Order: sequence, then structure tokens, then C-alpha cells
Amino acid sequence: MEDFRQVKELLVNELGVDPENFTRDKFAAAVEYFGRYYLVAKVGERVVGFVSGFDDGVGLFHGYMGRLVVDKEFRNNGIGRELVERCLGGFKDAGVNSVIVGVRRDNVASRRIFEGKIGFNGGDYFLLYKSLREQ
Ligand SMILES: CC(C)(COP(=O)(O)OP(=O)(O)OC[C@H]1O[C@@H](n2cnc3c(N)ncnc32)[C@H](O)[C@@H]1OP(=O)(O)O)[C@@H](O)C(=O)NCCC(=O)NCCS
Repeated sequence: MEDFRQVKELLVNELGVDPENFTRDKFAAAVEYFGRYYLVAKVGERVVGFVSGFDDGVGLFHGYMGRLVVDKEFRNNGIGRELVERCLGGFKDAGVNSVIVGVRRDNVASRRIFEGKIGFNGGDYFLLYKSLREQ
């Protein structure tokens, strides 16, 4: 939790996360449940990368990964890939069988990470999305 402020700054600045909704209490609750999948990358004391994941919370069969981000100044140094590999290690340790991640088709760096040697693939699936804020 000592990294909350820096993680928030990274997610707000680089991923456009809504700062109003990203509160210390919500983050603490998520870390309590899913801390093994919440990872930061640091250079010295500075948080330069983050990834989060959660599991289905009941059977531990499915995992979901998201909010992968690396500070612009530190990209292309293998930090993103290492965060993903370590997060997957957390899922394996927890007995999770499969992990899902949503990646934009045009996100080259992200696709290189997930579809490269780590081996994610779309198979017969595609992602569906619906905002619940619209009427
Ligand atoms: C996606 C992101 C996390 C990658 O982090 P990173 O630390 O730069 O990634 P890595 O250094 O591990 O590089 C992964 C691969 O992408 C390549 N790469 C990195 N930046 C790239 C770029 N701008 N264009 C093309 N390829 C790129 C690397 O060369 C490497 O390729 P390799 O397979 O040949 O080794 C980072 O670009 C980022 O934060 N983007 C904005 C947020 C985002 O899109 N998150 C992903 C949501 S799923």
C-alpha cells in the first residue's frame, strides 16, 4: 500500500483511469483479495510499472489480467514482459487454469508480450464489451 500514490499517478496519467474512482480504500481491498496478482516494477523507490489481475474467487479456475502499464520513460526495456510473466506465476501458484486478457488489436507492444513466447492466443474467441453507463 505504500505504493498507492505512485500507482494511482501512473494509471491516471498513462491509462486514463478516473482518479475519483481510484481510491485508497478500493485499492486496499483489491490488494487484500488479489495481492498476489498486483505487481509493481520499481527503479529505486520509483514505481515505473504496474499490472493487476484477479481470479474468479470461487473455484480459482479463471484468471483475468489487466491494467498493464509501464512509464513512458522506461518502456522497451522488458519491464512489461517481466510484469506479465510474474503475474502469470502468481496465477499458476494459486492453481488458476487459464487467464484472459483484453488487448487492442493495434497495441503492438502489448501484443508482442502476450502473443509472443508467453503464448496467449485468441483461439475461437473475441471480446465483447458493453458500457453500463449508457441508457
Ligand atoms: C504495453 C506496455 C506495457 C509494454 O511495456 P514495455 O515495458 O515497453 O514492454 P517490453 O519492453 O517488455 O516490450 C515488449 C515487446 O514490445 C516491443 N515494443 C515495446 N515498445 C514498442 C513500440 N512502441 N512499438 C513496437 N514494439 C514495441 C519490444 O521490443 C518487445 O518486443 P520483443 O517481442 O521483440 O521482445 C507499454 O507500452 C505501455 O505501458 N503502454 C501503454 C498502456 C498499455 O497499452 N497497456 C496494455 C494494455 S493490455
